[in-house]
Amino acid sequence: MSIDALPRISEQSPGVTVSRRSPIKVIPALVRDPLRALPPEIYREPLVYSRVAGRERILLSDPALIHEALVRNADALSKGEDVRRALGPALGQGLLTADGAHWRWQRQSVAPAFRHEKLVGLLPAMIAAAERTRDRWLSAEPGAAVRIGHEMMRTTFDIIVDTMMSGPGGIDVAQVEKGITDYLKPTGWIFALSLLSAPEWLPYPGRSRARSAALYLRSEITRMIAERRASHDEREDLVSLLLAASDPETGRTMTDGEIADNLLTFMTAGHETTALGLAWTLLLLARHSQHEEKVVAEIKEVTGGGPVRPEHIAKLAYTRQVFSEAMRLYPPAPIITRTAVRSFPLQGFTVPAGAVIVVPIHAVHHHAALWEDPERFDPGRFSTEQVKGRHRYAYMPFGAGPRVCIGSAFATMEAVAILAVLLQSVRLHSQAGSMPAPLMRVTLRPRQDPELLVERR
Ligand code: HEM
Repeated sequence: MSIDALPRISEQSPGVTVSRRSPIKVIPALVRDPLRALPPEIYREPLVYSRVAGRERILLSDPALIHEALVRNADALSKGEDVRRALGPALGQGLLTADGAHWRWQRQSVAPAFRHEKLVGLLPAMIAAAERTRDRWLSAEPGAAVRIGHEMMRTTFDIIVDTMMSGPGGIDVAQVEKGITDYLKPTGWIFALSLLSAPEWLPYPGRSRARSAALYLRSEITRMIAERRASHDEREDLVSLLLAASDPETGRTMTDGEIADNLLTFMTAGHETTALGLAWTLLLLARHSQHEEKVVAEIKEVTGGGPVRPEHIAKLAYTRQVFSEAMRLYPPAPIITRTAVRSFPLQGFTVPAGAVIVVPIHAVHHHAALWEDPERFDPGRFSTEQVKGRHRYAYMPFGAGPRVCIGSAFATMEAVAILAVLLQSVRLHSQAGSMPAPLMRVTLRPRQDPELLVERR
């Protein structure tokens, strides 16, 4: 049927749940924590429609509808205002934030760095970074506490700069971590102002600190690119792929600004999310000793009690299941959004151009109709048999469609390697009984960086 024959989606459309929360409630909730601002119905219903300040927002948590929007109609969607306003000042028009031909060119240019054979070759660097973290922990006083979020950021940052940029080139990890935290802190304000279509010059708390953080990160990267151009070295990494990339349509190469956009994108998207996934995994294992023991037993069986080696990683199936289940409960990227650039069909309706599509991955992963006892931590959900019985998009920590995370295999390999090295040698204990509350700052962080006590195993 032609799209013109379909009725336009509206508050009256059959099968559509309408959220009638007033902007007076939604706006402050967005500023505090965008996850808490989601209409609660989206955790029970497939599609929720809302209209705030004249903007239509269509929230989807049904896997078939997500497939129809993000995969089948991907070319009708752009990343949109929320993403541009929140991330554009730091990441410019890099792979995560660009649209159309500019996005496609960049995706094709960096794809060779993510081929399976290439990733397997990065495993020794991943294991070595995990070993440095383990040795640092073991050399501390017995019973010392570690801030788990910070520790995982440090480890995954080491890995991203070692593997993708051939070393940190003098970049200060602690400054980068602080820079990213400062940058992300006021993003709730940005989403709220974007929802109200407020002008971009409007000041909000934390704005100037966020801008300074972005400038600091960019200046460090720009220095690194200049050094690399001057050195003419032949290293085969992401930097050289970007330096050599040429647009198939125009033949032009990337400017230093465009290369910086992408290096900043990979440096941030490529370590913070994995670090958070790992932090949540370790916090869960510290409270679920039966699953921790199963992981430790698997590592022992696969490694034979010796050091973790690259060929062991693919065999650590249960460890991978644990990481997957942690990302179900605490998806590091909990909400993704798009804007319709033209009208498109969805569930027998027409979604008009300009509508915002929200895919609350957190709600999909906790949805009452998709998961039995959704709040329970149960890595068994990711056994081969259980995965087979589920819709592909009932679980989507890495997104879906052509904009799916390019680093998903990298992240999974890295996470399993880090868990294997750490859990083989240390036991982590939590003094707090319950899990820390999550807080969304584009990514899903523990509200405060929790401490875990380290004990030699
Ligand atoms: C557990 C770790 C990770 C999670 C949960 C995650 C999640 C995601 C999600 C949900 C998206 C899609 C965003 C959207 O549709 O709007 C995405 C995109 C992206 N991710 Fe990841 N990511 C992770 C690790 C990584 C790593 C390790 C890298 C790089 C080495 C990376 C680089 C990117 C890039 C460049 C994009 C944009 C891709 C495009 O638009 O073509 N991510 N990620």
